[in-house]
Amino acid sequence: MIDERAEVRKGAKVKIDLIAKKNWTGRVLVGFMFDGDKTPLAIPGDEGKSFAAVAAGEKFTGQFKKTSLLRAGFGDSPHAGTVPAGATKLILAGLGKRKEFELDRVRSATAKALKQAEEIGTESIGLLVPDNKEVRGELADFAAAVVEGAILSSYRFDKYRTPKPDEAKPVGELTLVFANTKNLSVAMRKAVGEAVSRSEAVCFTRDLANEPPSPKPPEKMAEIATGLAKKGRITVQVMHKAELEKLGMGGILRVGAGSHQPPCLVHLTYTPAGKSKQTVVVIGKGITFDSGGISIKPSAGMEAMKDDMAGAGSVLGLFKWLGSVDVPVTVHGLAPFAENMPGGGAQKPGDVIRHFNGKTAEVISTDAEGRHLLADCLAYGSTLKPDLMIDIATLTGACVVALGDEYSALLGTDQRTIDRLISVGRQQGEFFWQLPLPDRYKSHLKSKVADMKHVGKPGIAGTITAGLFLKEFVGEGVPWVHIDIAGPSFTKEDWDYTPAGATGVPLRTIAALLRKGV
Ligand code: BES
Ligand code: ZN
Ligand code: ZN
Repeated sequence: MIDERAEVRKGAKVKIDLIAKKNWTGRVLVGFMFDGDKTPLAIPGDEGKSFAAVAAGEKFTGQFKKTSLLRAGFGDSPHAGTVPAGATKLILAGLGKRKEFELDRVRSATAKALKQAEEIGTESIGLLVPDNKEVRGELADFAAAVVEGAILSSYRFDKYRTPKPDEAKPVGELTLVFANTKNLSVAMRKAVGEAVSRSEAVCFTRDLANEPPSPKPPEKMAEIATGLAKKGRITVQVMHKAELEKLGMGGILRVGAGSHQPPCLVHLTYTPAGKSKQTVVVIGKGITFDSGGISIKPSAGMEAMKDDMAGAGSVLGLFKWLGSVDVPVTVHGLAPFAENMPGGGAQKPGDVIRHFNGKTAEVISTDAEGRHLLADCLAYGSTLKPDLMIDIATLTGACVVALGDEYSALLGTDQRTIDRLISVGRQQGEFFWQLPLPDRYKSHLKSKVADMKHVGKPGIAGTITAGLFLKEFVGEGVPWVHIDIAGPSFTKEDWDYTPAGATGVPLRTIAALLRKGV
């Protein structure tokens, strides 16, 4: 059982409010500043100039990811009287040079400001929202990025930890302070509300992947997925062992056969309120623990394999988000869950697996298990006749070698979507890079006993040959993109606004893609 206390991650949820500046009564205020500007944003004129001058005395000129803390006049503070009326402290957060501005910098700068607030023991802050004229792009996008930076950076997975008395508490309350009340519009409130839902969906995905492996077997994941169908226009169907056998899902069944926890397939469906323009299938690898099976992994670092369901976690997170928004497309989420274990019934190297579309694969390493689950789902998803099919998987260690831990690999047949994912991802601070899918390497998968081997040559193009294997299961004419998140699904160190642990990548990019239709 997942511990119920997961729902109340103490201090991890940030309460967000919007208010006119004249009504704000807080003590600590955050303002942004571009490197090279004479004043911080939203504090123009002489007042702004004097803050900038004091900050510059501390060598702060708005450099990206740097902050400066200005205190009101206590004793002999050199900044006596420099902080706006009401506030006792002002935190300036650098956005870097104007010409290098990207929206993602707002998330990072907000996270830095919150960290500074945390260090001075503040649990509630105000944040000055600039005026339209001061920023490039839509102001609502800027405010949404602030909200995301705040919620995503204050996430903690601490349900199994006893709080230490001297530990700094993350900021629990963030008020967006508007000098120009015209900006405090219905549209602004809507954008902020959406940013909250998006961020909470990411935190939900992180919770699933951070959860230890034993409390989240396939059936438990199905139970959580079923809970998502209570909201919005979402339905769910869970296919258990008997049904998977009837359907011929040999990949899911054989991978799950080494565990006493039976595998299952979750099929979530979102139907739009208005007319559905398109159909999208999103598939996520859901290995709740990857021991490698009979081809067992080395024990060092194996604990990270609790995260091998991060693809399926993103699919569930996507549906959590879909429970609170309107998107113009029908979305099918397929999340196959299995535990890859070396039990008595486990698949063995040399076995032949027959997948949903009838194609057979010779098993070389039982540690290359994810592609069998995806193969069944890609073939099954193709029967839904989608306009786009995306699969998300922590699929290959080779991908981490090629692209590191911050870039996901994209491979597939839909170049337009690949290009969109790269550019949308950049705005979201989620990074993608395309790898080729050349027919020339198909020969690596030749088998003498089955239609193909399921892995290529050792040490050679492992991410690409995995992609070529998957392609065999994509229906004729179905536009398809495979996302290998083996690197970015999990981080050992804190990123700008992503604490160490499961990251929730690439949920925000997929959400942004679906928002506008595909
Ligand atoms: N889950 C792993 C891939 C992985 C590795 C994800 C590191 C995240 C970090 C996958 O099931 C696997 O073990 N793949 C093998 C395939 C090989 C046997 C062809 C790999 O990459 O080593
Ligand atoms: Zn594996
Ligand atoms: Zn795996």
